[in-house]
Amino acid sequence: MFRDLRAGTKFLILCLVSLALTSVATYALLVEKQIAINFARSELVGSKYLALLRPIYVTVLKKRAGEALAGLPNASARDSLDSLSRARSESASTLHIDRDVNSLAAALLSFNTNNNVSLATDDVYLAALKYLRDLAARIGDDSKLTLDPALETYHVQNIVVTRLPSALEDIGKTQLLTRPPTGANDFVEQKARFIALDSLLRANMDGIIDDLRIAQRGIPDGTLEKIVEPALTALATKTTAYLDSLRAFVDSGAEKTQAGLPYADTVNSALDAWAATQQQLDQLLKQRIDDLQRQRLLNLLVIGTLGMLGLFVAFLTYRDMIVPIRQLADLANKIRETKNYRLRSNYKSRDEIGGLAASFNEMLGELEVAREREIMRQAEISRVSRLTTMGAMVASIAHEIRQPLAALVANSHAGTRWLEREEPNLEEARSALASIAQDGHRANEVITSISMMFKKNANRRVPVDTNEVVNDVLNLSRGELRSRKIALQTTLAPDLPQVPADPVQFREVLLNLIMNAAEAMSSTDESRRVLAIASMPAEDGISITVEDSGIGLDPKNAEQIFEAFFTTKPTGMGMGLAICRSIIAAHGGRLWASPGHSCGTVFHIFLPLRAGQQASALAPTS
Ligand SMILES: Nc1ncnc2c1ncn2[C@@H]1O[C@H](COP(=O)(O)OP(=O)(O)OP(=O)(O)O)[C@@H](O)[C@H]1O
Ligand SMILES: [Mg+2]
Repeated sequence: MFRDLRAGTKFLILCLVSLALTSVATYALLVEKQIAINFARSELVGSKYLALLRPIYVTVLKKRAGEALAGLPNASARDSLDSLSRARSESASTLHIDRDVNSLAAALLSFNTNNNVSLATDDVYLAALKYLRDLAARIGDDSKLTLDPALETYHVQNIVVTRLPSALEDIGKTQLLTRPPTGANDFVEQKARFIALDSLLRANMDGIIDDLRIAQRGIPDGTLEKIVEPALTALATKTTAYLDSLRAFVDSGAEKTQAGLPYADTVNSALDAWAATQQQLDQLLKQRIDDLQRQRLLNLLVIGTLGMLGLFVAFLTYRDMIVPIRQLADLANKIRETKNYRLRSNYKSRDEIGGLAASFNEMLGELEVAREREIMRQAEISRVSRLTTMGAMVASIAHEIRQPLAALVANSHAGTRWLEREEPNLEEARSALASIAQDGHRANEVITSISMMFKKNANRRVPVDTNEVVNDVLNLSRGELRSRKIALQTTLAPDLPQVPADPVQFREVLLNLIMNAAEAMSSTDESRRVLAIASMPAEDGISITVEDSGIGLDPKNAEQIFEAFFTTKPTGMGMGLAICRSIIAAHGGRLWASPGHSCGTVFHIFLPLRAGQQASALAPTS
């Protein structure tokens, strides 16, 4: 089915399929880029809300450190909760932090209602720190920060989302160890707690430095070295110093006060490191979004340029392939319809289509020459045909007119003799003159009849009684037969139907056959010379036979005898039988010869009852 489509339609389908493919690929690319951009934007939202946790940490840590953290800016519990509630409603689709915010809010409210520093508030304090860490982790999870696919930002976010909140919590917990022990058990318990917190914090600091190193490998341009690395190494140093002095404090028991511990400095350093790392994370994410948007634009530009190039190539293909092919096809159709072989394709190029057009033109050139040759040949044939026809007509007239002319001469001699007598017999002379007039009349009829034979559709047809024509002809040739000593036998069937025929032409046929028969018997014994003529009905027509007892036919000439100019006689023209067959064929009948019963030849004529309109063999064909 595809094969039968027009070349232009096939080309259009190809273009549409290519367009669809390009559109789908472009759409997939844009969607992929948009997903990556949305991912980074979601991470930015998480980072933004993580920043809200820092003042809340200060609020909570101040509950136990009091004056030690007086210099740090913090938000009131209400302000902190308000900002978290806003975060919740603004990013409801991204963050699902309701439960964690509610737990934190309950702990903060409980601080406000019970400001006394008591053991019960220790639990609230620890719970608040834990809720803050959980909230940071939840924000990290929901905003996909923890799923970050890039090596560099994954480790930076790990510091921001997990390690620093965890470090702040652990530093906050150390504050509970700064109270003087109240008994031996309390001292031992404080020491055990310190050991646990010490190892946790040191491990966390190591982890932070490890994450930093891996991230630096992913960002070799030195961005992290400027702000983040100093802040994080300062934190690690300060935390180590703080833990060292805290160990001395815990070991010393109740004698020392907490005034010399660098607690505020450590907390401050942790908050600074957190803010710096988070700021850097924001920058990295924004940069990634910018890169993705730039890539998307670049991709669109490349696709657009390639698309324009594709359109241009499609246009060239259409102009240089489809249009020439169509023009060649149109030209071929036009030549087929008009037979004008002078038309040519004017397409020129060095490709296959140009070659095809050139070959096509060459072929047309050859066709034109062949066509001209053919026309000339046709003209020659028609000229020869006209000459042949004319020759045949002249020959026919010459042949057929001989008999009336001979009769005319014989009658004029007879008339002259009657007048040259001593006593001229005027009666006989008048009769001879009447015969001469009749012969002239007959000659005229013969000429007219033969002329009509050669004119298309000009044959005269009248109902003819064949027996009457046979008798007519026998009357004309009776003298000839008598002089040649030929006996005549006629067997004419009575009541034969009339046939549509030209009586003059029919008479010529019979006359020719009788003359041939007489000539064929001229060399045979006089006593055996018999001419038998019979007529009889036949299927859908009538049949007439002319039989002689002459020399007979040479079988190898059986068909040749009907050809024009075939003769075996020294003075013959060879036109008699050709004229006869031509006349009978023009009447729709048939003429043929067969051997006689004992010797000689039989000529058979069949004439149909309905007028036939076959072309005469001698008459012009066009
Ligand atoms: N009755 C016949 N018996 C034997 N041969 C015949 C007979 N009629 C015709 N032929 C053969 O057919 C030939 C052609 O006859 P056709 O009448 O066409 O020409 P023709 O008699 O030779 O010359 P013409 O043109 O003067 O009639 C004759 O030469 C003769 O050989
Ligand atoms: Mg003859």
